[in-house]
Amino acid sequence: MKKYFSTRLVSKAIPLCVAVLLPLSKVAAQTKADDAKMNTFVTGLMGKMTVDEKIGQLNLVTIGAATTGSVVNKGVEEKIKKGSIGGVFGVWGADRVKEVQDLAVKNSRLHIPLIFGLDVIHGHRTIFPIPLGMSAVWDMGLIKQSAQIAAKEATAEGLNWVYSPMVDIARDPRWGRISEGSGEDPWYGGQIAKAMVQGYQGSSMKNADAVMACVKHFALYGGAEAGREYNTVDMSRIKMYQDYLPPYKAALDAGAGSFMSSFNTVDGVPATANQWLLTDVLRKQWGFKGFVVSDYTAVNEMIAHGLGDLQMVSALALKAGLDMDMVGEGFLTTLKKSLAEGKVTNQEIDLACRRVLEAKYKLGLFDNPYKSIDASRAKEVLTPETRAQARNISKHSFVLLKNEAQTLPLKKTASIALVGPLADNHRDMLGTWVIAGEWEKSVSVLEGIKNVAGSNVTINYAKGANITEDSLFIKRLNFGPGMVSVDPKPADVLLKEAVDAAKKSDVIVAVVGESQSMSGESSSRSDIDIPESQKNMLKELAKLGKPLVIVLFNGRPLTLTWEDTHANAILDVWAPGTEAGNAIADVLFGDYNPAGKITATFPRSVGQIPIYYNHKNTGRPYDGKGPSKFKSNYLDISNDPLYPFGYGLSYTTFGYSDVKLSKSKLKGNETLTASVNVTNTGKYAGEEVVQLYISDPVASISRSVKELKNFKKISLQPGEQKEVSFNITPEELKFYNSQLKYDWEAGEFIIQIGTNSADTHTASVQWSK
Ligand code: BGC
Repeated sequence: MKKYFSTRLVSKAIPLCVAVLLPLSKVAAQTKADDAKMNTFVTGLMGKMTVDEKIGQLNLVTIGAATTGSVVNKGVEEKIKKGSIGGVFGVWGADRVKEVQDLAVKNSRLHIPLIFGLDVIHGHRTIFPIPLGMSAVWDMGLIKQSAQIAAKEATAEGLNWVYSPMVDIARDPRWGRISEGSGEDPWYGGQIAKAMVQGYQGSSMKNADAVMACVKHFALYGGAEAGREYNTVDMSRIKMYQDYLPPYKAALDAGAGSFMSSFNTVDGVPATANQWLLTDVLRKQWGFKGFVVSDYTAVNEMIAHGLGDLQMVSALALKAGLDMDMVGEGFLTTLKKSLAEGKVTNQEIDLACRRVLEAKYKLGLFDNPYKSIDASRAKEVLTPETRAQARNISKHSFVLLKNEAQTLPLKKTASIALVGPLADNHRDMLGTWVIAGEWEKSVSVLEGIKNVAGSNVTINYAKGANITEDSLFIKRLNFGPGMVSVDPKPADVLLKEAVDAAKKSDVIVAVVGESQSMSGESSSRSDIDIPESQKNMLKELAKLGKPLVIVLFNGRPLTLTWEDTHANAILDVWAPGTEAGNAIADVLFGDYNPAGKITATFPRSVGQIPIYYNHKNTGRPYDGKGPSKFKSNYLDISNDPLYPFGYGLSYTTFGYSDVKLSKSKLKGNETLTASVNVTNTGKYAGEEVVQLYISDPVASISRSVKELKNFKKISLQPGEQKEVSFNITPEELKFYNSQLKYDWEAGEFIIQIGTNSADTHTASVQWSK
């Protein structure tokens, strides 16, 4: 391999598989030696750099193929040659990336390679379910596999940095970006964060098929007031530490190489210039060693936040611990002036520059800036094998929300009315954030059903309704060309076609819900019903008295109270990705028995939001019997959600025994074993996610009513029984008290095991110190 920098100073990172065989002391010594080599290398390089070149490393630009704002950088080629750019995003494909990398490596004074990033969020070319759907899988092996495939495809196209995982806890489904995260639970969100980072970064970021993860958005972005995009976040420190920060910390502990700051304020200071967040918490408390990039033009946006002019906000961001400025070029255009005026120091610029160079070193880019650019790897992208893997992962993400009288699975002899704007549709199969994913290559539901059903099924297809008939809404959804295509036929004509199709059929399958651009960034909604045009169609179909199955596409929990009452079955498929139609058909016809469980509570009405299972009790708790005066409830609706966190049905049924405890009194660091017997009481083989929650009824602060602490996913044949056990230690009892000390307090704990957060079997223990 051609060496681009002096390899005497470049270490070979020991792969983790070797590392685990070595005693820990040796691993630590090796890491120290690697770090020492990296420091020597980076110090040597920085010794040759001018201040301008150092500031250049802090500048991340987009060439324009993928932007979320109005700004696209100008004069990129010249700037790269001058050493004024450290990284580029929005460029992929081996040839394109090579061309741009050549500008830096062959034409800049110090030949420092660029880092190439992209929003690879749920797959690169092979698209997996949107992250909220992915989180319904409850299988960390599959989640990690999706990140590994994404990393392999991204590196095959020259990328080495992905802006994922998005680990923002979200409890407000009005917020469109709830689709990009793993739902509402801090512990579960942390498990996914870890699996994703491990999948992306592999055993070493130097590997040709590994990318550096970028954990976002640090921090609390999902707490936006009223679910309105980019809005203010304001919450107590206890809530931050207990409920919102854990997934970021889990990603860091898994070795994530970089973080992205969020657009919002935290304690009144925008995260992008928040020293407490970026330095005190991230680096001093948690020990983060990587680099922090801003979100898209977030440095500049601090002017609108009211923190000063561009020079001022850029200096504030650098001083707070921000290392790289995405797109806005505030660092590039003002830091030198701030240095001359004593507003920032050489040390602060050096520190940020060092962190960016270290990231490039850890990726092996100084060894070989072209390490993953290999035209022969183009065939590794969107292969029959990755499609098969995507189909498997997608079907694991579907959640059966209702299945009255075994309406599903469908018989492979039925005549089916397949209706709805998402039934014969490729565009909306992939969901939000699919920069390099090609929707034309996705499998529609109609195609999938034809592929799976066999020749004895009759399909009567009709579109039935447009996504929406609201022209203003359509205009907003069409921020990219052709995102929502509208059938010009009048709504009543479309509807009649669907009714006619239904009349000739045994069963109606209505494929409805949200189109691609209805969730994701800048897609907040105040009304989270299925749009009116589609709901009207459902209402007409329901009148026919035939079995009505809803296949629901959604980037967020929707309010489905009407649908839950009137449809016979509801299968939530989120936005399943490239293999959408095949995976949906696998489940509709029972070739796979669904086992997904929701990770964000589905409200009955938008008025219940924010709604989440791990809330506090209050002093006047709701008694579960319906609204009553002088209790913490609404007068007009129950407090209960429509579908609680962890909920999801199967074609079979599962019976749970009472909880068995190894002891009822424990002391100090003892371990408790809690178990249940789970029996498949139905007719189909199936999988069940057995969930463990713990409540701490008496403590020095008011605790959540329960918290998820563990789960196990098991498979059972009809009639089969398995014992499922969880080991519980004081670690699972810890929480942040009012001094922000993370500890547990002696007393009673209620151990709860069950099929979802609202349906558990309980047992009580006393645990003393
Ligand atoms: C989003 C980030 C994304 C970035 C780059 C921003 O608008 O908030 O999640 O990584 O754009 O595309």
